Amino acid sequence: METPVNILAIVGSYRKEGIIERAVDEILASARERGAVTRKITLLDKRLAFCTNCRSCTQVAGENYGVCILDDDMAALLQEIEGADCLVLASPMNAGTVTAIMKTFIERLVCTAYWPWGSPAPKARRPGKSKRAVLVASSAAPGILARLTGDVTKRLKSAATMLGAETVGTLFIGLAAQQQHQELSKGTIHKAHKLGHKLAAGSSTKLN
Ligand SMILES: Cc1cc2nc3c(=O)[nH]c(=O)nc-3n(C[C@H](O)[C@H](O)[C@H](O)COP(=O)(O)O)c2cc1C
Repeated sequence: METPVNILAIVGSYRKEGIIERAVDEILASARERGAVTRKITLLDKRLAFCTNCRSCTQVAGENYGVCILDDDMAALLQEIEGADCLVLASPMNAGTVTAIMKTFIERLVCTAYWPWGSPAPKARRPGKSKRAVLVASSAAPGILARLTGDVTKRLKSAATMLGAETVGTLFIGLAAQQQHQELSKGTIHKAHKLGHKLAAGSSTKLN
């Protein structure tokens, strides 16, 4: 029997049941329909401290992610990420970029680089891309405007790259703040399902 594709979603929304969480749920449900195993982590439920820029996690060379001095949930989160074949990285656009909690998570990914003191820039410990990622973002502004003026997908894509994942699709939901409990449009649900099927199937053709 084939090993099922293992998909991990990391959600940076502040609202349970918000647009982002529901879009991610649609992606994961459709991936499960095609035999994938899925898990969703909401960053809000985790203890994640700010990176202190001590850089101790970047000093030792090698493929293993550096060890952080902070005792919180990041190490366990990285372990789950290592076990996943695919990632879904999701965040609303707040103040033009990812949410503060998603940014906190992304800053902690500095441990994926080797950057000893004296060296001008970090180097990826694992430059290859063995995983696949789908990005999910939402904004109050129309999607096209938000993508032009903000950098949420750029930040999520860069996080995917740091985690060794090739971005194979993006779901950007514009006009997402018109009502307190806004429904996902049919078009959004359709695209979410396509992305879920794609992750479960292991295809790497882009869908943007
Ligand atoms: C503090 C804050 C800042 C926001 N900044 C922006 C923004 O810069 N541009 C934008 O289009 N929407 C902005 N929004 C709207 C959110 O993107 C929108 O409510 C969110 O995508 C909905 O996702 P959720 O349902 O998962 O919470 C902001 C919302 C909040 C609360």
